[in-house]
Amino acid sequence: MSDLIRDLTDDQARAALVCKWGEVPDDVLPAWVAEMDYAVAEPITEALHRAIDAGMTGYPRFGAGGALGAAYAGWASRQFAHEVDPSRVVATVDVTAGVRLALDAVVGPGGLVMPVPGYSPQLAMAEMTGRERFDLLLDPDAERAELDLDQLDHHLSHGARALLLTQPHNPWGRAFTRAELEAVRDVVVRHDAFVISDEIHAPLVLDGREHVPYLSIEGTAEHTVAVVAASKGFNIAGLKCAQVVTASPRLHEALVSVPMARNDSWSVLGVAGSIAAYTDGDAWLAALRERLTSQRDLLVDLLAEHLPRARMRPIEATYLAWIDLRAYGHDDPAALAVERQRVQVAAGHDYQPGLTGHVRLNFATSPERLTEIVRRLALALA
Ligand SMILES: Cc1ncc(COP(=O)(O)O)c(C=O)c1O
Repeated sequence: MSDLIRDLTDDQARAALVCKWGEVPDDVLPAWVAEMDYAVAEPITEALHRAIDAGMTGYPRFGAGGALGAAYAGWASRQFAHEVDPSRVVATVDVTAGVRLALDAVVGPGGLVMPVPGYSPQLAMAEMTGRERFDLLLDPDAERAELDLDQLDHHLSHGARALLLTQPHNPWGRAFTRAELEAVRDVVVRHDAFVISDEIHAPLVLDGREHVPYLSIEGTAEHTVAVVAASKGFNIAGLKCAQVVTASPRLHEALVSVPMARNDSWSVLGVAGSIAAYTDGDAWLAALRERLTSQRDLLVDLLAEHLPRARMRPIEATYLAWIDLRAYGHDDPAALAVERQRVQVAAGHDYQPGLTGHVRLNFATSPERLTEIVRRLALALA
């Protein structure tokens, strides 16, 4: 295994990851928020040191494209064989803000379809922007996590105007295939609707699998805004820089003509960190994917040994495992885990209100910690 991925000690993790490790008491082992217990890639820390040494603490460049656009376009071409026009890459503060910007500037009024279970803060996005939320529900008993196109079709016929696609999906763990995405496109085009494609997890495909950008599907340019970032793949969410990408002059124009106060909050250090990740991060990322693939395999073994009645669908991407623990008979296993065994996983009902017996477990840690997390979870449910 490559030594490019350096595990943080508990003390280092507590100092570095003030949300994941700092928001829980010191005796609690954290496996909740989506941050990795690994040191940041050297090309990124070097770029940040250089930026600070140069006194780069002012405003970022506000125009679209630039060095960030070029770095993202180069990355998308190498990583996904996806050609992006660098001048159509627009910076924004984070992916959540990028989704809101797309809703306001491009989609306009109308309901929002959310695949559910879904990233919990985004469940509030429809209401916050004055829209109805239409849940595209995944049956907890389904063998495979697939987007239900009949539900999508129904929602788009009954007031929904856009789909918030998460590709790859958190917490489903799916990297949707080209054929699946083409099928989504066909439904969306039939209704003249929009797709906002949240691709924050794109770098995190496992088993050598490919990520298919939704915008790389033919016939999506006129209805799609992609929101991407180096933040999740490279553990730099705190640097605050994401990118909004379009392939149509009309949609690009709509994004860049919002009032400045609507989109001016990204950070100059976030730009520097993202450029370094996109330009010089390939080797580190390859090592990370290998590590996460082996962590995923270890998790499968640990569940078989300690929690044999747990159900987990194959995880194709992300480092977030969606685990069905209903067979153990507890409504809120996450609450029990922290109370009885001092391990913090995320509660399933945060991702799907009303759903019982599920947790989301973050396996981006050391093999030793992952073993301890599952051991404690099993003891808590015994
Ligand atoms: C699917 C998805 N979108 C967005 C985010 C949050 O991104 P940001 O911090 O850039 O708003 C996350 C965080 O884990 C996520 O999983």
